[in-house]
Amino acid sequence: MTTPRHFLRLQDLSRAELTALLHRAAELKRQTRAGEVHAPLRGKTLAMIFEKSSTRTRVSFEVGMAQLGGHALFLSPRDTQLGRGESIEDTARVLSRMVDLVMIRTFGHDNLLRFAAASRVPVINGLSDDHHPCQLLADLLTAQELWGDLRGRRIAFIGDGSNNMARSWMEAADLLDFELRIGAPRAFWPSAELRAAHAGHSHFFDSAAAAAEGAGMLVTDVWTSMGQEAEQAARKATFGPFQVNAELMAKAAPGAVFMHCLPAHRGEEVTAEVLEGPRSLVWDEAENRLHAQKALMEFLSGHGPVAELDGQ
Ligand code: CP
Ligand code: NVA
Repeated sequence: MTTPRHFLRLQDLSRAELTALLHRAAELKRQTRAGEVHAPLRGKTLAMIFEKSSTRTRVSFEVGMAQLGGHALFLSPRDTQLGRGESIEDTARVLSRMVDLVMIRTFGHDNLLRFAAASRVPVINGLSDDHHPCQLLADLLTAQELWGDLRGRRIAFIGDGSNNMARSWMEAADLLDFELRIGAPRAFWPSAELRAAHAGHSHFFDSAAAAAEGAGMLVTDVWTSMGQEAEQAARKATFGPFQVNAELMAKAAPGAVFMHCLPAHRGEEVTAEVLEGPRSLVWDEAENRLHAQKALMEFLSGHGPVAELDGQ
């Protein structure tokens, strides 16, 4: 049995693969909008395991699979034996004898590693506590639509610098050679080890204004991620100075844009004015989940131009 390609973190792709995948996503977006049918995954099934809530991830994977000619299966631990203690490994062995791709949204990243190690088919990370690589595919596609090449650009991530989104942005900066400035309270910086590993492209600030300086894009995310609900009040107090508002946007480069993976909390991490304003790209960003993941599923299934790169 050959080991399948998995997508558990952004750096599971090479620079060449990521670049090609983003261009392929743009082409699939054009095709979809033109009403052209492209169904290379006819007869294929994607299993989707959700241990956390989701709107965008569930809908974009399910719709994307339908558009590619395949079928998607929603599995919640509440209704499967996973929720009654069947092991991750046994579940992976069984599912991967029946389906062609598996997407998992879970808590500990280790759950994904265990599933992937026992799976015969590609496994996709639909969000874990450590990474949200599918969101980055959409975010990078959105940035590419604005700028073309991201090389040399300056992007600021404001808020919880230690969460899954911040970490995936750090991997993106290394892969696509742009500058990432993380503005977060020091207690919410990534570990010293992780900061050192990404020191080439990621820089850390304990002031939102310092991080935003000269950035062409400000990005934020919720202050309390799924699974951290018990810390919500404390986080709200700590992150107050890290709100993305008109004043912070004014510290960024002229014409700077705003992104947020959503769901958003108006009045907390971002004001309604910025989220709804003319420089907000959040709705394009959400739509791009669909196009980017179609390119990913096509690639992991061995179809399309990215698959032809063969490990470059
Ligand atoms: N951005 C994102 O992953 O959204 P959902 O939680 O709705 O899937
Ligand atoms: N950091 C957030 C992202 C939600 C899409 C979370 O993990 O809840």
